[in-house]
Amino acid sequence: MLRCVLSLLLVALLIAAADGQARDDYYQEPFRPQFHFTPERNWMNDPNGLVYYQGEYHLFYQYNPFGNDWGHMSWGHAVSTDLLHWQHLPVALAEENGVMIFSGSAVVDRNNTSGLCRNPDPKDKSCLIAIYTGHTEQNQSQHIAVSNDRGRTWTKYAGNPVLDIGYRDFRDPKVIWHEATKKWVMVVSLSREQKVRFYGSADLKKWELLSEFGGAGVADKDVQWECPDLFALPVDGQPGKKKWVLIVNINPGGVAGGSGGQYFIGSFDGRRFTNDNPPERKMFLDYGRDFYAAVTFSDIPKSDGRRILIGWMSNWQYAGKEPTSPWRTAQSVPRVLSLKRFSDGLRLAQQPVAELQRLRDRHFEKPEEVRGDALEIIAEFQTSTGRQPLIRLVSGPDAATIIGYDAATERLFIDRSRSGLVDFDPNFPGTREAPMKLRQQRLKLRVLVDRSSVEIFSADGQVAVTERIFPLNNLQTVEIVAAETQARCVAFDAWQLKSVWRK
Ligand code: FRU
Repeated sequence: MLRCVLSLLLVALLIAAADGQARDDYYQEPFRPQFHFTPERNWMNDPNGLVYYQGEYHLFYQYNPFGNDWGHMSWGHAVSTDLLHWQHLPVALAEENGVMIFSGSAVVDRNNTSGLCRNPDPKDKSCLIAIYTGHTEQNQSQHIAVSNDRGRTWTKYAGNPVLDIGYRDFRDPKVIWHEATKKWVMVVSLSREQKVRFYGSADLKKWELLSEFGGAGVADKDVQWECPDLFALPVDGQPGKKKWVLIVNINPGGVAGGSGGQYFIGSFDGRRFTNDNPPERKMFLDYGRDFYAAVTFSDIPKSDGRRILIGWMSNWQYAGKEPTSPWRTAQSVPRVLSLKRFSDGLRLAQQPVAELQRLRDRHFEKPEEVRGDALEIIAEFQTSTGRQPLIRLVSGPDAATIIGYDAATERLFIDRSRSGLVDFDPNFPGTREAPMKLRQQRLKLRVLVDRSSVEIFSADGQVAVTERIFPLNNLQTVEIVAAETQARCVAFDAWQLKSVWRK
């Protein structure tokens, strides 16, 4: 009896230790975000294969299993049941025979259209299929892989590649199920031609070209179009009405004033995307320098209905030089997208997922009370004329990140030139701006600070600005110094946010 109780106790202890992967070492590292996803060690870039399946959100990501620089690209893997706490899992898809695993997506093949599912449950035919780019120096082609054990192990399809047009820059397939025409649709980029292509398939294995889209938004000859996404979203305030959104990430991020993520709104009939706006209209997901390769989750249950986006919080201009180790780069907080009508037309709006509010811990009512390195700040200002700093995130006597508003140019700005470590790359320091018209000079900001990142949401979600910072002094506290200027802070709330890595 006693032996039985003891072994039960041991099992319970082991489960408790493994659960949620408490990581006190993460807490010790000065730049390690506390509520954003980072790999335990080594290099990461784009989020890949975002999919919800049987109670779990899967986050795959571009990963180098062997070092803290880009290389040997493979898909790293983590799962979560709440979009907050992530459990690290072994590499899902590894580089093999000189073929790297570049970015792509994952879908639930509910009815085994691929014929690759071997679900052990007789009542369930489904499996997970990943669709990714197989990269060699000479060629990029599209491949698939299957998992019959909830994403834990993966088998590359023997008939790979499933789509090969003999091109060097043909990558980042995003696959969706198009219900109206009952087929799979892939949107994939011809990066150096500033185009995306749409392909259709009944079985995820044979793909037929449907159409191309390009020459709109930011499409200059020297940018690359990467990591597209395509989905329909309901239009706020117009019950029953939906519009299609096409996301195309542009490298280098930061050209033409926006971030690396641009989007188009229009219609999609199962073959062709038609842009509602004139081609010269540029619309951006985010205005900061550190939001790239943003794509959305597949297969979120209808009962939930959210369209959830994650972006890579870095920028190819300096990602490889960011001063962190033994890991590099982080993913943004998951954000919910909606389509809202603003004064300048229909636009995407985004807000952090509501789950994030569960991390709210100590509450501050006044700016002077705020202490912490993982924070949520909600502040409203009555602005006046000129250029006004509104919030300073202070990390030392001489170091601060400044968020402010310029009433003359009608722009929100963030200045990280004295935010801490900035000289690891000439492109890192400096000020970033986002166009933002105010109503009655009122400005509401929601700011998420997480040691080495700042995400700003404003203008009812129409404006998002994401920037990394590397505060020095090992001080790791951030203070808010609101408005010593003519601007008045009229409402203020802030919370320390709990670390998702600590018990
Ligand atoms: C975007 C990107 C993708 C590519 C991947 C390689 O950041 O360049 O186009 O698939 O990264 O790691």
